Amino acid sequence: MAEKKRVKLAETMEARLEQLAEQRHKIELGGGEKRLAKQHDKGKQTARERIDNLVDKYSFDEVGAFREHRTTLFGMDTAEIPADGVVTGRATIAGRPVHVASQDFSVMGGSAGETQSTKVVETMEQALLTGTPFLFFYDSGGARIQEGIDSLSGYGKMFYANVKLSGVVPQIAIIAGPCAGGASYSPALTDFIIMTKKAQMFITGPSVIKSVTGEDVTGEQLGGAEAHMSTSGNIHFVAEDDDAAVLIAKKLLSFLPQNNTEDAAIANPNNDIAPVPELRDIVPIDGKRGYDIRDVIAKVVDWGDYLEVKAGWATNIVTAFARINGRSVGIVANQPKVMSGCLDIDASDKAAEFIGFCDSFNIPLVQLVDVPGFLPGVQQEYGGIIRHGAKMLYAYSEATVPKITVVIRKAYGGSYLAMCNRDLGADAVFAWPTAEIAVMGAEGAANVIFRREIKASEDPAATRAEKIEEYQTAFNTPYVAAARGQVDDVIDPADTRRKITAALETYATKRQSRPAKKHGNMPC
Ligand code: HXC
Repeated sequence: MAEKKRVKLAETMEARLEQLAEQRHKIELGGGEKRLAKQHDKGKQTARERIDNLVDKYSFDEVGAFREHRTTLFGMDTAEIPADGVVTGRATIAGRPVHVASQDFSVMGGSAGETQSTKVVETMEQALLTGTPFLFFYDSGGARIQEGIDSLSGYGKMFYANVKLSGVVPQIAIIAGPCAGGASYSPALTDFIIMTKKAQMFITGPSVIKSVTGEDVTGEQLGGAEAHMSTSGNIHFVAEDDDAAVLIAKKLLSFLPQNNTEDAAIANPNNDIAPVPELRDIVPIDGKRGYDIRDVIAKVVDWGDYLEVKAGWATNIVTAFARINGRSVGIVANQPKVMSGCLDIDASDKAAEFIGFCDSFNIPLVQLVDVPGFLPGVQQEYGGIIRHGAKMLYAYSEATVPKITVVIRKAYGGSYLAMCNRDLGADAVFAWPTAEIAVMGAEGAANVIFRREIKASEDPAATRAEKIEEYQTAFNTPYVAAARGQVDDVIDPADTRRKITAALETYATKRQSRPAKKHGNMPC
């Protein structure tokens, strides 16, 4: 069996330092200048450049640069695979410790063998041990084919570690190159996926699909960033390129605590709680007219600055991180501009995932409610809107972080409960004078309960209008809910920011526990 070449150690310290520098240089060259240049030609950065851009200058301490593989078959006994195709280590981002890994596509296509997976898993274990976020750049041809079952086992260990870290330290995946087959389940098990427009991710590629189902599709159509954002909902952010991905990762991280035992840092507070009169003019009183809920969000949060999550998918609901008086919050808001803000299958999944994350990491939740109901339709029912909608009910009921709900306009039936009303544990509930909190809309209600009177009437249209008005007056106002204690206060929209700020201060010390259990069973 051939042996890997070993360097004979030099006699003097000076010469040994030269040897060390040479070896390090060789490792840092990865798959060599040509392959690194090829990476640049594709508009992508190298594994090391990505880490350099992500972390604070001079903060990166590489761990395991000299690690080697142990494969012998297919001529691998003499193969040198620098760092085994992944750069791993610890660093800081904006002064906060993190652990990072970055697959090196120039080294055997970034493929993951036993040693690569071991390095990644060890890095994740260090993140767990130290309570620090873990960030991973994926850019790989998947399991290293020459290593057979060992590479498969390596992925299994990565998945297991992803799940172990889940809910303990934030995990951020940056898909920066190919990520195919079972390998894509590692990012899928993290908290957030940022995907660049240079990357593709799928379980089975276009050629396999063609041979199995006969469907024609390009790699980009199937697994490009836009497809994952707008159609599959698999990813959370689209980035133009590596630089943009890093900026998103840094911004995202700025809203998150280091781990589940900490609160996110209070940062860059805007303590101006003066009334915001513009909030009175954004929302039309006529419930049939749409508006962009993001205009409301921008007026409520600090500096009008927020980071929308899954901005291109299930756009009938908006999920976003922001700060209010410097405190990190998760915002869940119906979007009346899209499908009148109805909750459907995808919106329920999107919101439930976000709520679960915020609760895991002690980030208070703020709901902006304008929801006419769950989306009616055969496809929705067959698609399982019952179990998908249940995820929101489950996630809010399970969440023990401060929950502040503001009812802006419609808040009907089960969809209102799914947006966290008092019964689902909202700590503070405010309603605007435009709020309509009821079991259903007045038109639908009148058609059901006054059906006979309307039918028997000489002028059914006039009677229907009269009955709608009657129901509207009786129920579709904020005051009935306020009378029942479902709403703490009916407020001038201009005071929304002040009210939320004060509630967040009050409930910052909220401590709530649940009955001991191994874990609950979220509907899925
Ligand atoms: C070993 C690999 C490799 C792999 C690529 N390479 N993938 N080596 N194992 N999985 C090597 C290539 O031989 C090549 O080596 C170098 O990486 C660059 O690859 P290219 O093909 O030249 O690059 P490109 O044209 O950009 O294509 C990238 C690619 C393609 C689309 C990712 O390489 C590809 O299809 N690779 C195979 C994907 C695959 O089938 N993986 C196994 C999946 S099974 P040289 O020396 O020429 O530079 C799997 C199971 C995981 O992942 C299960 C987990 C549960």
